[in-house]
Amino acid sequence: MNITLRIWRQAGPDAEGAIHEYQLHGVSEDSSFLEMLDILNEDLFARGEEPVAFDSDCREGICGMCGLVINGVPHGNHSPDPKDNATTCQLHMRSFKDGDTITIEPWRSKAFPIIKDLVVNRNALDRIIQAGGYISVNTGAAPDAHATPVPKKDADRAFEAAACIGCGACVAACPNGSAMLFTAAKVTHLGLLPQGKPENLRRVTQMLNRMGAEGFGGCTNFGECSAVCPKQVPLDFIAVLNRQLGKAVLSGV
Ligand code: SF4
Ligand code: FES
Repeated sequence: MNITLRIWRQAGPDAEGAIHEYQLHGVSEDSSFLEMLDILNEDLFARGEEPVAFDSDCREGICGMCGLVINGVPHGNHSPDPKDNATTCQLHMRSFKDGDTITIEPWRSKAFPIIKDLVVNRNALDRIIQAGGYISVNTGAAPDAHATPVPKKDADRAFEAAACIGCGACVAACPNGSAMLFTAAKVTHLGLLPQGKPENLRRVTQMLNRMGAEGFGGCTNFGECSAVCPKQVPLDFIAVLNRQLGKAVLSGV
């Protein structure tokens, strides 16, 4: 395949960025999207030019490091069925056609400052977790797995929430730059399980306060977050979070 790439280049956090155009020839349709960028970087390196900085780690859809906005959509998730969504590292060049032009940009959000080119700082999500995304337990030997029974439907819902890999695509897709889907996934995951319930209302307040302090916007129900989520975290978790917030406010937590 011959493709044209339009890539956001920015030398550093305070530098002015711009779209640069590159031609790539003979790309295999079996290459992953990130392998295609590796090939581009080998070309740039061979020509003595600065390679394009982009993040990745597992390249298996697990770690959440590889977020790119591809043709205007986080992770390039264009399918009308969110079940087909995947991370950027799981996207393959067979999803594109010979002669295509592909525009690649970093996550765009006030809370995710650009470090270089396509790499952004997503530490703000970690700080939301630090604010309350944990349970306070005595350490010691691990209890038997069946010592605390969990109803099957709660276990399934908690598992659905726990699928969130913290990639930040929900933030990048949201017109408000909100991290509500991410925060809702973490709150729902812990709040449904017996070990997490006792601290739930305090957790909700602390995590939402942190979300606001980090510069993420509020949720106005656009639904773009869930539509691009590579792990199919459902939108109704935000309603769960809002109900918990209502309880926290009424109980003065
Ligand atoms: S909710 Fe989905 S899109 Fe948002 S951080 Fe988690 S996995 Fe990524
Ligand atoms: S590199 Fe880990 S999810 Fe893509």
